Amino acid sequence: MDIEELMKIEKARKRIFKDESVLDVSYIPEKPLFRENELKTIYLELSPLFDGIRATNLFIYGMTGTGKTMIMKYFLERVAPNLGKSIIYSYVNCREMKTEYKVLRSILLDFNVPFPKTGLSTSDAYEKLKRTIKKPVLVVLDEVDILVKNAGDDLLYNFSRNDKITITGISNDPTFIDLLDARTLSSLKRKEIVFKPYNAIQLQEILKQRAVLAFNEGALEDEVIPLCAAFAMNYYGDARKAVELLHLSGKIAVIEGSDTVTTDHVKKAMKELERSSILDLIRLNQILTQHAEVCAVRSSQAL
Ligand SMILES: Nc1ncnc2c1ncn2[C@@H]1O[C@H](COP(=O)(O)OP(=O)(O)O)[C@@H](O)[C@H]1O
Ligand SMILES: [Mg+2]
Repeated sequence: MDIEELMKIEKARKRIFKDESVLDVSYIPEKPLFRENELKTIYLELSPLFDGIRATNLFIYGMTGTGKTMIMKYFLERVAPNLGKSIIYSYVNCREMKTEYKVLRSILLDFNVPFPKTGLSTSDAYEKLKRTIKKPVLVVLDEVDILVKNAGDDLLYNFSRNDKITITGISNDPTFIDLLDARTLSSLKRKEIVFKPYNAIQLQEILKQRAVLAFNEGALEDEVIPLCAAFAMNYYGDARKAVELLHLSGKIAVIEGSDTVTTDHVKKAMKELERSSILDLIRLNQILTQHAEVCAVRSSQAL
């Protein structure tokens, strides 16, 4: 590729995109759509922390891409500061911190307490945490199902017995609670919220909200957003897939030097995404089957 060709592509990029950062998965919208009730529940349950009072432990479930992480970050980073309130919290992504030690260290570092990567024990970490936390704090364990599958539920048990720690656990796996020990379950008083998957219309609205900020006017053909939404419906209403597909379609249009993003670009992007996520789909189907089985067992026990 020579420099002239790259300059052409750069011009196409400027024609298509206004602000690509809006298409990043970690982008938090000004006003999240369709999650008012979930946000209200989170607010109601966690607002005692504004006054330094320990709150209810909260467990948020829902399939991938139902907006769990986004809403939690929206609450912590937008709602609380806009109300002039602050919560002392530590947010841990358990996909990155898969062991008890790593989670504890990450929390300590969030609270500005140095702790070595290796060399000490988890009991040292608990000890240090106990000495550090003087006021009620919130610990958000995102993708907590991964931690429990990998390292068991000791951390949840120990935190549930610490009267300064409020836990919010977020899980992509709806059967997560069945992984917990009876002892943890009984000690962990909690409220649960389920994020339902989006339908095709809701996905279109979410995409439109992003597209207005991300793309220049007239850069998207009319059928692009409905097609992206329809594709994400194959992934059980996963908004992340929808946004990813829209972004990739835009990039393909840029590379082809096109003035607009067309359904052809979307179809090419779909093929690319499908290739990389066949494994995800297999995993997702396993989760759904397990969930259906658990529900069947529960309803037969209820009879
Ligand atoms: N209700 C919504 N309004 C706007 N954007 C949303 C909404 N729900 C999800 N998204 C977007 O979809 C993507 C996936 O959401 P995320 O919170 O990461 O899902 P989860 O944590 O449930 O897997 C993010 O880019 C997020 O901003
Ligand atoms: Mg998430």
